[in-house]
Amino acid sequence: MVDVKKIVVVGSGLMGNGIAQVSLMAGYNVTLVDIKDEFLDKAFANIEKGLKKSESKGQLGEGVTADALMAKLKRTLDLASAVKDADYTIEAVVENMKVKKEVFKTMAENSPAHCILATNTSTMSITEIAKDCGRPENVIGMHFFNPVPLMRCIEVIAGEKSSEEAMETGMAVSNSLPCLRGNRYVAKVLIDRPGFIVNRMNAPGQIYLSWVFDQAKEKQIPWNQIDADGGHAMPMGPCELCDYVGLDTMHHVMEYYAETLSPNFKPGKVISELVEAGNLGAKTGKGFYDWSGGRPKIDKSQKAGLFDLQTMMAIMLNEGCRILEEGVASGFKIIDDANMAGMNTPGPFGAGKKNFEAWSKLLDEIADKTGAEYLRPCELMKSGGFVKMRK
Ligand code: CAA
Ligand code: NAD
Repeated sequence: MVDVKKIVVVGSGLMGNGIAQVSLMAGYNVTLVDIKDEFLDKAFANIEKGLKKSESKGQLGEGVTADALMAKLKRTLDLASAVKDADYTIEAVVENMKVKKEVFKTMAENSPAHCILATNTSTMSITEIAKDCGRPENVIGMHFFNPVPLMRCIEVIAGEKSSEEAMETGMAVSNSLPCLRGNRYVAKVLIDRPGFIVNRMNAPGQIYLSWVFDQAKEKQIPWNQIDADGGHAMPMGPCELCDYVGLDTMHHVMEYYAETLSPNFKPGKVISELVEAGNLGAKTGKGFYDWSGGRPKIDKSQKAGLFDLQTMMAIMLNEGCRILEEGVASGFKIIDDANMAGMNTPGPFGAGKKNFEAWSKLLDEIADKTGAEYLRPCELMKSGGFVKMRK
């Protein structure tokens, strides 16, 4: 296993600055790389704010100050020089295959031979990202959840050529990163399929939600009523969560699933229009909601009745069964646990054991309503065969 002392985080946006913060808190020397100084300025301010908050709560450990950790954080616009003495890199640039491949080539050509190169892609193939960089055996997936300091889950993903040493180092580094809201949960993802475990299981819900958003627009139903349909079981309703993740990221992700899983994933009108208008959610101050004054206060007193959680759970169970069929995870407990750690909502297998027959009927109804064949139940779900599979 590689002895990791210096981590380079590439991309200092929403995810990169959270990754840099927890890496500093774990005691690593960290360099943050971006393409413009103004992005790094913003990231440094966010990291400092987070560390000061943690210091005030005694979360940094005895004698450790935010100022001392900030002194271990370096910055540059020059990726090639940043990785010269790196032991480990975490790429968190935009969700675009071409950009990621260029970044990996630069990292592989300029870093020491032992350096492990991880990508925080939400959905895309680790094998493809690694393919032309020259050292695919050093490349792994390391998928965090937003906001990084507060979400427990990290998925560590093996590409086709990832070495055992790279995977072991990735698991060890992930386990070493603190989480401010409960214990860190690291899930090993056995094969490289779109969306890995948690995002994959939540992916077809986006087909359903895209349809819900377009229906709401047609019927002039306000977004807060859609979020009210989610009730209190969801820490953020679907519209708020899309804004929080970033509508551009959602759009890229759906386009990628449309290419790799089913054309039914093509983003609907509402999401496409928001992205075209540059209303990307929290990061631009506007998406479904206005974020210019911080997290919006959402009135959930009236429901739209357009979207329901039971259908969401049925859709998740169906995709969870496909994940098991493909061998992406070693059993259904890890799928449920990773979902709880990554989304703060329960996975579908617990309730699904009793409900798979009723939920299969529900899926046929929703496939008829939306016209999305991908939502129909798979054999493993319809038969309840997953109940007898390894936990
Ligand atoms: N450093 C230190 N402290 C921090 C911090 C940071 N960076 N960020 C927040 N905090 C502190 C806050 O200041 C707050 O402190 P106080 O309680 O002292 O005020 C504390 O942490 C809790 O913060 P919040 O009040 O914001 O927390 P909350 O209870 O409202 O929960 C949440 C926030 C955890 C984000 C919750 O709303 C939630 O679970 N939302 C759903 C998020 C989700 O689903 N994420 C996954 C998205 S999908 C994804 O990420 C994958 C992908 O590939 C797209
Ligand atoms: P973001 O748009 O907030 O940040 C991306 C940053 O990368 C920007 O600061 C941009 O300037 C920088 N960048 C672009 N090209 C670069 C290059 N060649 N070199 C260095 N920096 C470059 O995006 P984000 O939400 O932080 O997402 C980053 C990655 O993490 C994506 O792959 C995304 O799919 C993934 N991800 C996002 C979330 C989420 O909820 N937003 C969750 C998990 C994973």
